[in-house]
Amino acid sequence: MSSAAETIRNKKMPVVAIAGATGAVGVELMACLEQRKFPLAELRLLASARSAGKTMKFRGSDIAVRELTDGSLDGVDVALFSAGGAQSKRFAPVAVRAGAVVVDNSSAFRMSHDVPLVIPEINASAIAQHKGIIANPNCVAIVAATPLWPIHQRARIKRLVMSTYQAASGAGAAAMEELGESTRAFLEGRAFQPKVLPHPYAFNVFSHNTKVDPETGYNEEEIKVMNETRKIFGEPSLRVTATCVRVPVLRAHCIALNIELETPLTPAEARALLASAPGVRVVDELERNYFPMPVDATGIDEVLVGRIRRDLSDPTGHSLSLFVAGDQLRKGAALNAVQIAERLLS
Ligand SMILES: NC(=O)c1ccc[n+]([C@@H]2O[C@H](COP(=O)([O-])OP(=O)(O)OC[C@H]3O[C@@H](n4cnc5c(N)ncnc54)[C@H](OP(=O)(O)O)[C@@H]3O)[C@@H](O)[C@H]2O)c1
Repeated sequence: MSSAAETIRNKKMPVVAIAGATGAVGVELMACLEQRKFPLAELRLLASARSAGKTMKFRGSDIAVRELTDGSLDGVDVALFSAGGAQSKRFAPVAVRAGAVVVDNSSAFRMSHDVPLVIPEINASAIAQHKGIIANPNCVAIVAATPLWPIHQRARIKRLVMSTYQAASGAGAAAMEELGESTRAFLEGRAFQPKVLPHPYAFNVFSHNTKVDPETGYNEEEIKVMNETRKIFGEPSLRVTATCVRVPVLRAHCIALNIELETPLTPAEARALLASAPGVRVVDELERNYFPMPVDATGIDEVLVGRIRRDLSDPTGHSLSLFVAGDQLRKGAALNAVQIAERLLS
């Protein structure tokens, strides 16, 4: 652990900065710090020059947003970064040199071998190995891995197939706005030219808007989810595949999960395991046909998990199917980052 980490542990009231405070994740970071009564001496809100001077409310007071610059990180103990990969690459090392520990929401450092990639419910012990930067995993990886971990511990996942239903908020505040505007235009019979996402979003579904590798056919989101799940689980050879898709939902991702296990596990056993697992809530009411939905997952801390059933295509009883819904702005980003910051202080 770095000396900065020791200093922070001794500091019960740290100076906290949010880089990207005006964005979808930034706003949620503020909400999590406030709701969880995170102890702090000062909250510094940083964003682009476009937002400098704008005020945002925190614990009943107005805080003026400042431009993210080298100097803006002086004196910061904990820096929560959610301003995109380019800003993280440029400014996270500056924050570390200034004595801060960085919790980064971007993908910039997630696969670096000296950067822990942490979901506190799974690998909180990895936090101690940081050298100034701790990475928050991709939102799909967090929403899938949190409920899969207790099953993996009990019956060891040999193969994992993920199919996502990803909300607009995963692409930031501007994408949420575009979903609203394009839906209004569609209903009013007006033409709408997408600006943020590459395809019409209202009443449509399309493959994730990241670059596709012509060799493998996988897009960048799918590769991130697959690699990050292996790193978080500490299972470099886990067989995992993903298909990532955007759906016209404002907030909270859903994921269909299919797992092949080393040891057979019944749906009842899986349900019982998940019922007592941290960070998840079982929603699995077969009689009512009531299962995890984005509307129920929105704004809550837990990942909802249901449709826990035997995969009938595997007669050996080694395979299960599940369906999860998780608020990716919250557990998939801000909450997970704040949980990591809390561990830094404890
Ligand atoms: N959305 C999610 O569900 C999610 C989940 C996990 C991780 N992440 C990651 O978190 C990061 C933020 O995502 P988001 O969804 O919150 O995006 P967003 O809504 O587009 O917000 C982007 C934030 O970054 C700031 N920013 C942009 N350019 C900047 C610059 N040159 N200098 C300083 N600040 C700058 C913006 O400030 P202005 O308002 O001034 O432009 C804004 O505060 C991304 O790396 C994303 O991959 C997002």
